[in-house]
Amino acid sequence: MIKVIQNVMKRRRSIRKFKKDKFGIEKLCSILKASLLAPSGADQSPFTLIIIDNEQLKRQIRTECEVADKDFHEGSPAWLKEWFAKKNITTEKKFLTDAPFLVVLAGNTTMPYWLESTWISIAYLILAAEEEGLATLTYTPGQMKFLMPLLELPEVYEPVVILPIGYPDEFPTKIDNGDKETKIFFNKFGVEENSCRS
Ligand SMILES: Cc1cc2nc3c(=O)[nH]c(=O)nc-3n(C[C@H](O)[C@H](O)[C@H](O)COP(=O)(O)O)c2cc1C
Repeated sequence: MIKVIQNVMKRRRSIRKFKKDKFGIEKLCSILKASLLAPSGADQSPFTLIIIDNEQLKRQIRTECEVADKDFHEGSPAWLKEWFAKKNITTEKKFLTDAPFLVVLAGNTTMPYWLESTWISIAYLILAAEEEGLATLTYTPGQMKFLMPLLELPEVYEPVVILPIGYPDEFPTKIDNGDKETKIFFNKFGVEENSCRS
């Protein structure tokens, strides 16, 4: 069983180019329900999921995100600007209008561990999308306050992520990040163990 999960984890990639092909809402809902299987503070799954398929709304969201990301990119440190350039990540967010669905997860800020719980649920959801042969991007624009009036979110909610979900139109491979191998230590910081290296 663990191998099945690991294979899905290894296969999953962040996708920033989507086909416009549509798929059924039932398929989408089965993916979204995976978020409710994740552990959460006091078992409250303290978030709401809003599916967006309205083209005009998608365009509005894209416009707002492109403005927010322009500010974010301009204010980024040099290393991050370099990383964006290497990954070809620009402030144009075509994926927000190409993907057939956008899903916003907004956390209920009155609940314990709302942010941690929302994020672990996002992890479950993105793996479920991969398992269904769909792709997504964990997209967190520079600011998301504009979603409050657009989606008529009650005050207690805070948007955490926008997930475009659809069929991939790019197939990136993972850039090997050697640094990650040195992150597992034994008993105290800095003590490595050979069996955890690869
Ligand atoms: C908390 C979080 C925020 C992210 N925000 C963005 C984002 O705003 N824009 C984007 O293009 N990718 C975003 N990503 C995707 C990461 O860039 C991506 O996961 C990372 O480069 C590793 O690539 P992979 O997902 O293909 O393994 C985010 C990922 C996480 C976990």
